Amino acid sequence: MDNVQEKRQFYNVALIGFMGTGKTTIGRIVAGLLNFGFLDTDHFIEMHAGKKISQIFSEEGEAKFREYEKQAVREFTHFRRMVLATGGGLGADPENLNSLKQHSLVVCLWASPETIYERVKNQTHRPLLCVPDPLNAIKELLAKREPVYRQADILISTDYYSARDVAQKIVSHFKTARAKLKKSVREG
Ligand code: S3P
Repeated sequence: MDNVQEKRQFYNVALIGFMGTGKTTIGRIVAGLLNFGFLDTDHFIEMHAGKKISQIFSEEGEAKFREYEKQAVREFTHFRRMVLATGGGLGADPENLNSLKQHSLVVCLWASPETIYERVKNQTHRPLLCVPDPLNAIKELLAKREPVYRQADILISTDYYSARDVAQKIVSHFKTARAKLKKSVREG
């Protein structure tokens, strides 16, 4: 871990994890606590594409959306003092995850399929969950993505904690990671 950390730089915080785990809400709080900027990657992609995510999916297809995500990830390498709330599929791609690790402490927010379902069931803006059995879709997709999500630096459950509590935990992990890094650089 220390060897890996020596090569790491924690300029930013990147939140990855499944839809409905609270990345945007929690990310905004973390940004406020650290006095960092905040960016939601879906919003970034929508601005560049000039259309909503659901429109990208329906007009250009999921594969094109994943390309937009990859392009966005390349731009993030120049970011400093930012909190990035990423779309659920972005951090489930090993290449994207490795890129985020070049500049960010990567935190994966976790929740059970049932909790996720409760949080998203009345929302309609996520194309992957606009299916006849969303709970089953959540279970299947989460199981498929789990091995990559688990490669994050830190995994935090959001099931039983408030957004503020989770944000505070993230800030504390971030400060510790930066302090450890500073110490290891000082000690050569
Ligand atoms: C997706 C998650 C969404 C959005 C798109 C695809 C996914 O973002 O990027 O609908 O593949 O999990 P949120 O995680 O912010 O809902």
